Amino acid sequence: MTAKIKPNTQIIGQNLVYFARLDSTNHLAMEMHKNQIIENGTIIYTDEQTHGRGQQQKVWESAPYENLLFSILLKPVTNYSANPFTLNKCITMALCNFLKEQLPSAKVNIKWPNDLMVNNKKIAGVLIENIFSGQQLSASVVGVGMNINQQFGNHSNLTATSFADIKNETVDRWMLFQQLIEKIDAYYLNMLDGDLSGIENEFNESLIGYHETVAFEIDNQVVYAQIEGCDADGRLMISHSNVLKAYQHGGIKQLIKA
Ligand code: BTN
Repeated sequence: MTAKIKPNTQIIGQNLVYFARLDSTNHLAMEMHKNQIIENGTIIYTDEQTHGRGQQQKVWESAPYENLLFSILLKPVTNYSANPFTLNKCITMALCNFLKEQLPSAKVNIKWPNDLMVNNKKIAGVLIENIFSGQQLSASVVGVGMNINQQFGNHSNLTATSFADIKNETVDRWMLFQQLIEKIDAYYLNMLDGDLSGIENEFNESLIGYHETVAFEIDNQVVYAQIEGCDADGRLMISHSNVLKAYQHGGIKQLIKA
């Protein structure tokens, strides 16, 4: 099958591998890495996943032939492997800025740690799975699911959205895919150059509820606390009754009203 896109990039998407149907693009990328048959920057993409993987062992559901489902295989070439969350911030910011450019009249945010939200509803998610050889990081698989033409409707009780829902029309999926890959490549190259200056602030400022008092569920209780940002290890820092605390993913749930 010939590639559906031809991105103008330096690393990401130089090789493109398409399958109409897969269990999970992350799974296949990991298997190909273990079998040493995949190069740095390769993208595996599909139109349908039977076992799409989400954060925290959840399932990633996506209507066939409507959305973007892909994984990028990245071999560590720089000191970012010392702090895997740097890659997470870089990819999430690339997606966030892509969405801001494509949907200029919408409110685009990050829900910590890496959900992409438009008008308080989730439009895309990132799942980075690291492969180790002993103590050494040997590759990261960056999986991205982005809702494009699947229609969720505009009811306020729905927590998902898509380009089609926001624009009220079907959009060109492959054109968006190509532009998205080019954006990710640009952010990745900056990261390799060590240019992380803007990313930390950009990331914090894009967090939904940054510097505001918002609701969280912690230990089955609703707590109102101020978001102070995300630390270098990716923990969310919140202040509550004048105490600053940092939480790992899974230890806290932000409650968001659509
Ligand atoms: C999340 O839970 O928000 C992360 C979702 C990541 C889903 C993508 S779809 C392509 C890639 N393959 C997978 O199995 N998962 C990721």
